[in-house]
Amino acid sequence: MSLRVPARVRVVEVGPRDGLQNEPGALSTDTRIELIERLAACGLPAVESGAFVSARWVPRMADTAEVLRRLVRRPGVDYPVLVPNPQGLESAIELARTHAVPVGEVAVFTAATESFCLRNTHCTVAQSLERLRAVAHAARAQGWRVRGYVSVALGCPYEGEVDPGAVARVGAALIDMGCYEVSIGDTIGVGTPGQVHRLFEALCREIDPARLAGHFHDTWGQALANALAMLDLGVATLDASVAGLGGCPYAPGATGNVATEDLVYMLHGMGVETGVDLDRLVDTGAWICEALGRPVGSRTARAMLARRAARASDADGARAFVPAGKDA
Ligand code: HMG
Ligand code: MG
Repeated sequence: MSLRVPARVRVVEVGPRDGLQNEPGALSTDTRIELIERLAACGLPAVESGAFVSARWVPRMADTAEVLRRLVRRPGVDYPVLVPNPQGLESAIELARTHAVPVGEVAVFTAATESFCLRNTHCTVAQSLERLRAVAHAARAQGWRVRGYVSVALGCPYEGEVDPGAVARVGAALIDMGCYEVSIGDTIGVGTPGQVHRLFEALCREIDPARLAGHFHDTWGQALANALAMLDLGVATLDASVAGLGGCPYAPGATGNVATEDLVYMLHGMGVETGVDLDRLVDTGAWICEALGRPVGSRTARAMLARRAARASDADGARAFVPAGKDA
């Protein structure tokens, strides 16, 4: 069987934001900064680094300004920050003005359903698009890029099934207001590959595939399969979270995005370039999970760590299985 996959996929690391926003364990600002720096050093082209949202609703992102201020940035890496409204953007602009922080990119988010939008951002979809239009306009006036998200695109915790037409309309509105790319969120990770294929077929009729991305949470174990279904349509950007960290505070029970290690292992195994150093990524995931006191959520990372441990005790004659053609 020959699967249609692009030669190269852009992996957007969202662990330091989407991952950490929902982790029960608190992390110091220093550790958050180190996580972002280590992820960028793995070769990831974009690392979402925080959110200017209400600390009352999402306390884990409260030190975002300090993170962005002290972060040592690598040339060529994007460090988008989430902003929900003009107040969030104002915080980003203020930081750039007072501390010469090169913000560079913001990410705005809305939803395909009214119920989720109301809970997540306390406004209707139409109101959120109006707010975000002002945010996008002001961000672009700073010379910054704007990325958009459409949440609950494959299922809503409050409304159930979601109309692909609604996803396409909201996605097109984000492009129309100046987003360079729209990431389609399976926030609660319920979608299955056939559904993803149909949704992206509909989206590709409205939006240039080069301006689409997939954001698949792995709650129901479908994220890798969903990623493949999307890649088949020529969409070549995927969000992922190191060690599978996270979830969404407004989607009860939702787990993190597809683990970056699992995605990179699959892509490299299919001959798709990502520019990511998988060994280093596994180290980073293991390190942050230890800091959080939680198990590593990536199956690839667990396999690689087990293989390393087996190799270390090779004196006992242990032989680890190495998949054909791999020396990761
Ligand atoms: P609001 O409607 O203005 O009003 O907030 P509110 O009643 O919710 O809160 C008002 C208070 O929030 C005021 O403070 C404001 O100053 C303050 P008070 O007077 O009570 O002390 N406030 C803010 N503070 C900091 N930064 C701001 C800001 N705006 C108002 N930007 C708002 C609306 C959206 C801000 C609020 O509801 C909020 O922050 N919600 C959190 C949304 C969030 O972060 N959700 C998780 C991220 S989205 C996600 O994970 C999905 C994604 O991964 C894709 C996917 O998986 O599908 C992207
Ligand atoms: Mg998410």
